[in-house]
Amino acid sequence: MKVLALNSSPRTGGQSKTELMLNHLVKGMREAGAEVEVVNLRKKKINSCTGCFTCWTKTPGKCVHKDDMSNELYPKWLEADIAIYATPLYHYTMNAAMKTFIERTLPVVEPFFREHGGKTYHPLRHKHPKLCFLSVAGFPEPEVFDQLSAWVNFVYGQYGIVVGEIYRPLAEVLDLPFFKEKVNEIFKATEQAGKEIVQNSKISPEAIAKITQPIVQDKKQFYEMGNKMWEACIEKGVTPKELMAGLKG
Ligand SMILES: Cc1cc2nc3c(=O)[nH]c(=O)nc-3n(C[C@H](O)[C@H](O)[C@H](O)COP(=O)(O)O)c2cc1C
Repeated sequence: MKVLALNSSPRTGGQSKTELMLNHLVKGMREAGAEVEVVNLRKKKINSCTGCFTCWTKTPGKCVHKDDMSNELYPKWLEADIAIYATPLYHYTMNAAMKTFIERTLPVVEPFFREHGGKTYHPLRHKHPKLCFLSVAGFPEPEVFDQLSAWVNFVYGQYGIVVGEIYRPLAEVLDLPFFKEKVNEIFKATEQAGKEIVQNSKISPEAIAKITQPIVQDKKQFYEMGNKMWEACIEKGVTPKELMAGLKG
């Protein structure tokens, strides 16, 4: 089984919690025998879709752009059995880099209109990889992912290709030693989810419950901790990354 894992976080140097969660998901998938390639979209040149519809008319299935998407990523994506879309939650949805990638997958459908269950859709030109969405957020409530999940199921539900949705709120604390015990449980469950996707094409409710479990019992505890961190950043004139580096150094 071939898996293409796409990470759209712009953060580097171990700061990305999308990357942290993705590493564990990929570990589980590899342990279950999948061949996984991880691609950081921040390193790739992916132009925006221009809406010209050349990929539907003059060169069916082929985009006009000559960039990393056309030359490298789209062919790999078409070949993959599963694509993982790993994105930080920005403004309650995927970030722009991930959306840009997804918009460039338009050649996979044909222009024609069909109807299923009262809903209009475009038929597939090629086999679409199965999809697993992974996202992380700063806020503690699981509901912050409701819009993203609704979008995922509205867009891809009719094709029956969604094999997993992994959403981790309060993700910025995942690298704090203070929460080590719970975080380890979350990471283990994420590995388990990876195995289950490869073996069963779905994630068990038990794994999801462990991944999404609350890390702090009282949100006020988080507010206090978070607000102190931001106050310290503003006072010292440093970013969170610089503050943490200063504390460690
Ligand atoms: C532009 C921007 C928008 C964000 N919007 C949200 C949001 O709507 N809800 C939320 O809970 N967190 C939001 N966050 C916080 C990120 O989801 C959080 O920092 C996450 O860890 C980022 O993923 P990364 O560590 O992989 O880069 C936002 C962060 C940025 C920079």
